[in-house]
Amino acid sequence: MTTLSSDIDIESKYITNVENLIPRPDIALKVLSMAHDANSSIPELAKKIEQDPNLTANMLRMANSSYFGFMREISSIKDIIIRLGFETIKLLAITGASAGLLNTPQKAYGLEARSLWNHSFACAILGSIIARYARSEENFSIYTAGLLHDIGKVLLNKPLHEATLSTTINKKFSSIIELERSMLQTDHAKVGMVLLQSWGLPDSITIPVGYHHSRDGKEAGLLNTKIITLANFLVESIGIRAAEPDKYLFQIDDFLEQNQNLPEVPNFQDNMETIIDEFYNKFNDAAVLI
Ligand SMILES: [Fe+2]
Ligand SMILES: [Fe+2]
Repeated sequence: MTTLSSDIDIESKYITNVENLIPRPDIALKVLSMAHDANSSIPELAKKIEQDPNLTANMLRMANSSYFGFMREISSIKDIIIRLGFETIKLLAITGASAGLLNTPQKAYGLEARSLWNHSFACAILGSIIARYARSEENFSIYTAGLLHDIGKVLLNKPLHEATLSTTINKKFSSIIELERSMLQTDHAKVGMVLLQSWGLPDSITIPVGYHHSRDGKEAGLLNTKIITLANFLVESIGIRAAEPDKYLFQIDDFLEQNQNLPEVPNFQDNMETIIDEFYNKFNDAAVLI
């Protein structure tokens, strides 16, 4: 039987080399935690962002896109702060930092470059719409959890690839989680959670990441977790894996028929059609970002 502490040791093993897998994680993660810290100051946040040219470029591109709706020439981080305000710079910083963490290809999962980012961004957009309907007050955390829910895949890609090469698999796995657990004794949700905890992100983000494939238990029953689980499932059902919005198709009736045991989120079922419509509009507008 495994104890809790040995479980954590397994995950820790996979997060030790994070610097080699994710470019400049020090800046991205500092930006993520500063944006979630009510006490951090905007000038400090801006200074940190400017240390990373890729992040700065990502944020400027987003700030000038129609998705964020500003349509004005924004040419520096200072411009973003002056013209767009505190909440927007936090949103842009979190989105830009996450894009930098997720845009490499993940072979073991059959994901091309940017596919994971595309899926994660879709999940963040849909999660925050569902959260608004559910009258959650943690919209910001849910958005970030959506962006980062599969970050464990970045860490497990190589070990999973190596494990599947060196093992003869004569069993059919019903899910990627089952395959990961069988090969690596852990899964991308748990490893992602331990990584984000080590970065100092709050429980409102780390718990939904850790339990987005769980259906039972206290953590799976928390509203943030239920929203991320649902958003992830819906995005998978819609088939968002690549940046081709025209090919997405979602049949609400088929979906309802086949998926009776999804988490219950307040006001979701009654507003499903409107929620999915809003999601499509936002996600299509966001296509320039992905
Ligand atoms: Fe996942
Ligand atoms: Fe996912």
